[in-house]
Amino acid sequence: MSELPFLAVKNCSVAYGAQTALDDVSLELGRGERLAIIGESGSGKSTLALAIAGLLPGDAVQSGAIDFPGLEQAARPGADIGFLFQDASGSLDPMMKIGDQIAEIMVSHRGMGWIAARVEAAQLLDRVRIPKALARLDDYPHQFSGGQKQRIALAAALAGEPQLLIADEPTSALDTVTQRHIVDLLDELVREAALTLVFVTHDVALAAERADRIAVLRHGRIVETAATAALLSSPAHPYSRALVALHLPLGTARPRRLPEIVEDVPS
Ligand SMILES: Nc1ncnc2c1ncn2[C@@H]1O[C@H](COP(=O)(O)OP(=O)(O)O)[C@@H](O)[C@H]1O
Ligand SMILES: [Mg+2]
Repeated sequence: MSELPFLAVKNCSVAYGAQTALDDVSLELGRGERLAIIGESGSGKSTLALAIAGLLPGDAVQSGAIDFPGLEQAARPGADIGFLFQDASGSLDPMMKIGDQIAEIMVSHRGMGWIAARVEAAQLLDRVRIPKALARLDDYPHQFSGGQKQRIALAAALAGEPQLLIADEPTSALDTVTQRHIVDLLDELVREAALTLVFVTHDVALAAERADRIAVLRHGRIVETAATAALLSSPAHPYSRALVALHLPLGTARPRRLPEIVEDVPS
């Protein structure tokens, strides 16, 4: 990579009290790159995602550095970085009309006027395929289905026009068909806006299909980072090998054939 990395995580450790959740993690991400962070539950994926976004809870003790050499100023969560949580209730305020939630982000992070922001909020909701978006600006989150709520949360994550989108298992609370629709939409929007993407998942097949590069986390440490094709065809670390073997049926770990085969994997 000849230009500066967009994101550089250097020797980052995070502890919650006596519990070490991240242990000396380093990684770099180029602008426009799509990185998947995979690992089993409790391996530190969310902690790493929150640390990158600057959204760790107050009781977390962090060391090391998280730099954005590709940004002119320090990264601002909500503006430069959009965050999509597993559950839309982590992203959306249940007491606030969806149009107001999205418009408010545009007003505070982009200095837009309220009326222009409402118009653009409707356009963005239409973009994430909320039917009759303009007529639904004054509805509350509970008036939408789970899949629609996650679409609205995606709109909110994009409302500040971020350069980096971090999605923490954004579809694992949804059924398989809805999952696929949301992942397709996410993919489309990321490509369209040339966003850098950090995608957290425990689904190796999903990572294989959607990421340029994969980082494997275990017990708070990165055991391996590699280009997706390389990680699938020749994982260097025994743990990555086991993870790939476990989640991808034998003989399917050939990237070129992966997309159509993944469709046929029963849930
Ligand atoms: N807010 C918190 N307070 C205390 N411990 C936490 C907190 N968040 C996560 N942990 C602990 O840190 C470790 C990593 O958690 P997490 O980053 O959520 O993993 P993952 O997202 O891979 O499931 C786990 O052992 C978890 O119990
Ligand atoms: Mg998690």
